[in-house]
Amino acid sequence: MIPLARPVMGEREEQLVLETLRSGRLSLGPRLGEFEQAFAERVGAPFASAVSSGTTGLHLATRAAGIQAGDEVITSPFSFVASSNSVLYERARPVFVDIDPGTLNIAPEAAAAAVTERTTGLLPVHIFGRPADTAGFERLAAERGLWIVEDTCEALGAVHADGSLVGSRGNLSVFAFYANKQLTTGEGGMVVGADAAVKERIDSERNQGRAPDMSWLDHDRLGFNYRLSDIACALGIAQLERLDQMLADRERVAALYREALADLEGVELPAATGNGDERRSWFVYVVKLPPGVDRDGTIEALRARGVDSKPYLPSIHLMSFYRERFGHREGEFPNAEDASRRCMALPFFPQLTESEVAQVAEALRSVLAKSTVDSRQSTVM
Ligand SMILES: Cc1ncc(COP(=O)(O)O)c(C=O)c1O
Repeated sequence: MIPLARPVMGEREEQLVLETLRSGRLSLGPRLGEFEQAFAERVGAPFASAVSSGTTGLHLATRAAGIQAGDEVITSPFSFVASSNSVLYERARPVFVDIDPGTLNIAPEAAAAAVTERTTGLLPVHIFGRPADTAGFERLAAERGLWIVEDTCEALGAVHADGSLVGSRGNLSVFAFYANKQLTTGEGGMVVGADAAVKERIDSERNQGRAPDMSWLDHDRLGFNYRLSDIACALGIAQLERLDQMLADRERVAALYREALADLEGVELPAATGNGDERRSWFVYVVKLPPGVDRDGTIEALRARGVDSKPYLPSIHLMSFYRERFGHREGEFPNAEDASRRCMALPFFPQLTESEVAQVAEALRSVLAKSTVDSRQSTVM
């Protein structure tokens, strides 16, 4: 079976993790600051705080931005559920706006139309590593006095149209290091930003509310245990050293897919670039099947041919919890719902070979050809 994702691990990861294990400093040791500093430099942000996941990073970032109970925060319904859940932790309300069907991101114009007197924040997501229009969100935020937290969990290494790296613009931005991400620490995340006082707050809140100059077991604010261990940070440092190579390999695999799938009629392939200097950081390879094709049947048929794939992504507003809590219904966000019906992720990781890509493409071609024939037959009948 060709798997959906597979992390790249090597001797350097083993070496740094072993050194850390042998050092006896497994948490709140020297690897934490080292990883934060190296990461901040790589994304071009003044400060970085390592946390236990992207989700906990989003929680701390929205708290630091000033989220309050009852606030409305505008975000995307086409995302991993954590982006929207992070708003709920502080009893604020995620307000969804529909996505652009091309980029699969929400646009500032759609967000502007949803601003009310209760709106306090914007939480754009750079979905599948495709940069959102952050400059546009910044203009909207300045006009309406809103905060911004960027969900950059899937976009490490992506570049905006004006050439700025995703995460480098001074907005609080949250990266994630789960095992399928461009850089992984198994589980983990990083909040980056430009304000030293905000970093201090996040560092304290991830560590039970303890200020840096306080003694152990003394806590001056509410906090959490959202720490990232030194073992994970050691892994992160080694991964960061190979990040450019891994990103280049992902680009190579995406280019192979583009070539191998180019002749599949009606299948929409993800774009590598957009306006100006915009460049996607390749996180997953998601294709949109033609309308009417049985996407879930396609996934099953691919599995029977030794290829793992996945529906990607379900719309958040139609998940049972969100339907029940907020009364969401089908038809509210047609572009997101259409993408959720038609999109699927194919196997995608840096070491995927040309022949594996060819095997995936061939399997998809034959499954789609069969499903076209089947649907013709059922029309005739
Ligand atoms: C868009 C998005 N937001 C948030 C998260 C949450 O990150 P984590 O799984 O590390 O909590 C993820 C990662 O899965 C993600 O893809």
